[in-house]
Amino acid sequence: MNRTLIIVKPDGVARGLVGEVLHRMERRGLRLVEAELRTLDAATAARHYAEHEGRPYYDGLVSFITSGPVLVAVVEGPEDTWRMVRTMMGPTNPVDAPPGTIRGDLATVMAQNVIHGSDSAESAVREIGIFFPHLA
Ligand code: PPS
Repeated sequence: MNRTLIIVKPDGVARGLVGEVLHRMERRGLRLVEAELRTLDAATAARHYAEHEGRPYYDGLVSFITSGPVLVAVVEGPEDTWRMVRTMMGPTNPVDAPPGTIRGDLATVMAQNVIHGSDSAESAVREIGIFFPHLA
């Protein structure tokens, strides 16, 4: 699977960072397969974050991702695209994210870390199926 799902989260959309994020993907050589601005409903968010249910941050995560429009997109690359995107994103906590990464350049706090990216090839398949079932 050389496609992965990204979500520019509500903070990223509100700050006008969609173009910046997509520009980085395209400059790297990744191809945009799908991209759509959506406001997620609670059921879709719960499905997407199912593996985190029960964690202390879960409720906040779901309410944040449904709080405003997000850009849901599928990008495609030559090999291990999910991993390449995760490297470009930087660590989950922006405090640990080095300059040059999306979070290292554009974010300061974990609860508003601009972007989600699938964390494995299996997650990419599952998440693309949730948001773009015609690609599954
Ligand atoms: S990751 O990116 O999946 O490896 O990160 P993980 O640490 O497993 O966290 C999963 C998602 O939960 C978010 N998260 C938090 N949000 C707010 N506050 C706290 N403390 C917190 N801890 C984790 C994290 O941003 C991940 O969201 P996504 O949308 O997958 O990036």
